[in-house]
Amino acid sequence: MNTAEQSSLLRGEPRRWLVTGAAGFIGSNLLEALLAQNQVVVGLDNFSTGFRHNLDQIRANVTSKQWAGLTFIEGDIRELDICAGACAGVDVVLHQAALGSVPRSIQDPILTHGSNITGSLNMLVAARDAGVKRFVYAASSSTYGDHPGLPKVEEIIGRPLSPYAVTKYVAELYADVFQRCYGLDSIGLRYFNVFGRRQHPDGAYAAVIPKWIAQLIRGEPVQIHGDGETSRDFCYVDNVVQANLRAATCTDPSALNQVFNIAAGGRTTLNELFNAIRTGLVSDFPHIAQSQARYGEFRPGDVRHSLADISKAERLLGYRPTHSMTEGLTEAMAWYAKNVIASN
Ligand SMILES: NC(=O)c1ccc[n+]([C@@H]2O[C@H](COP(=O)([O-])OP(=O)(O)OC[C@H]3O[C@@H](n4cnc5c(N)ncnc54)[C@H](O)[C@@H]3O)[C@@H](O)[C@H]2O)c1
Repeated sequence: MNTAEQSSLLRGEPRRWLVTGAAGFIGSNLLEALLAQNQVVVGLDNFSTGFRHNLDQIRANVTSKQWAGLTFIEGDIRELDICAGACAGVDVVLHQAALGSVPRSIQDPILTHGSNITGSLNMLVAARDAGVKRFVYAASSSTYGDHPGLPKVEEIIGRPLSPYAVTKYVAELYADVFQRCYGLDSIGLRYFNVFGRRQHPDGAYAAVIPKWIAQLIRGEPVQIHGDGETSRDFCYVDNVVQANLRAATCTDPSALNQVFNIAAGGRTTLNELFNAIRTGLVSDFPHIAQSQARYGEFRPGDVRHSLADISKAERLLGYRPTHSMTEGLTEAMAWYAKNVIASN
């Protein structure tokens, strides 16, 4: 979705937005898209996995008038009064704040529970009390758990394979119950392996695409968990921004209080991904030509295959992914090539 299409979606009724997790990867991309459309936005983040430099980048990319549309609150969604303050006067919440990563949740389930379940419940209570018109929230493909069916359709889920998956599913259940009990309208977006600019490449819990791009550029070894035939429906962040804007503005009542798969609708194995990144980077970084991945153990909690049926989002939200995995990867590699070198 280009900026003209975003602008036509947001034209008309002025809205005041709250983006939780605004200093993180997806939240900062949402924040930038909204500010670029001259929206009034409250951003909330506790910088646990987000970064001030993400906000600095947005500031550099928008006009000073657009930047003045942002009120940023440094705060923690595990505290109800922080959530209440952030929701005051807000029409639409885009709730992204959470602790991501399956391995992190296995390492420390209580920490993940706090931000993802208590934090989401606090946000729902605060949104309800503030009279928020729509609560759009980041759900997750991890909710499909051990169900083997492909492609994944929203109504058929298995048992969760990690504490993280439990937390994302519980947030869906709470959102559903908040409609039934209090009339708060919500839309859940089950993201499938999102990637793109500003996704953090470093640390034990980094996602595979930024991690491998950075490791290859730096000449570091790349490790594949398992045999490399694990597959994912990798989704470029611009598709996720589009889905959020459509969910926030859609007027079809049958789309409300639903969950939607948000993905590109294709499947890529880790072996294919490694080859695509190596091929994409090699002309700028010739040392990569000789790089080989090392294979290690499968990671506990990881789903083996993932592929989304995105027809429900297409039908009810008008979602149309603008970037295939390959198109997104090309943009992401160009961004990391510039930014990884700059940070070295
Ligand atoms: N990236 C993906 O592939 C993916 C896939 C499925 C779902 N999701 C969901 O999308 C959302 C955004 O993920 P992301 O990839 O941008 O991760 P991220 O870690 O970059 O962003 C999350 C942000 O939330 C903030 N945060 C965490 N706990 C908080 C708390 N208690 N109070 C206030 N702020 C807090 C962090 O500081 C960070 O800025 C999350 O809800 C995640 O579960 C992401």
